[in-house]
Amino acid sequence: MKIFLGSDHAGFKFKEKIKKVLDKKNISYEDCGTYSENPCDYPDYAFLVGKHVAQTPDSKGILVCGTGAGMCIAANKVEGIRAAEAHDVYTAKMSREHNDSNILCLQARKVKFTETERIVSTWLKTKFSKEVRHLRRVQKISAYEY
Ligand code: RB5
Repeated sequence: MKIFLGSDHAGFKFKEKIKKVLDKKNISYEDCGTYSENPCDYPDYAFLVGKHVAQTPDSKGILVCGTGAGMCIAANKVEGIRAAEAHDVYTAKMSREHNDSNILCLQARKVKFTETERIVSTWLKTKFSKEVRHLRRVQKISAYEY
């Protein structure tokens, strides 16, 4: 599995810390920016990561901004993307099991990094349940795109 990472200026420091978490887990990743805390526009990184995830088999994305909301709104505009905002472990887990989320959107301002690390680890290890009702619901979302 490959992870595409992105953040805006508000999420930059968390993105750098997430890279260390991925290193520890031996998970390969590509950092799509931003590369400093200079102000920038979160949609640029959401679209970039979204396109990479949509085009790369066996990949997922992690996006960080101040709230997680802007990244999530923007990433979900990319065809094939199911981005989920998770500020807790439960939501991260459910977004994989029930929604087959392929991008995790995180906030850097109100959640401590220790919790973020747990959210990321849970999201990475949780599989889509593939139960009929969840498959049906996810397929309805995909069908709506075309
Ligand atoms: C940047 O100030 C902030 O608006 C951005 O990081 C994000 O929270 C948007 O959703």
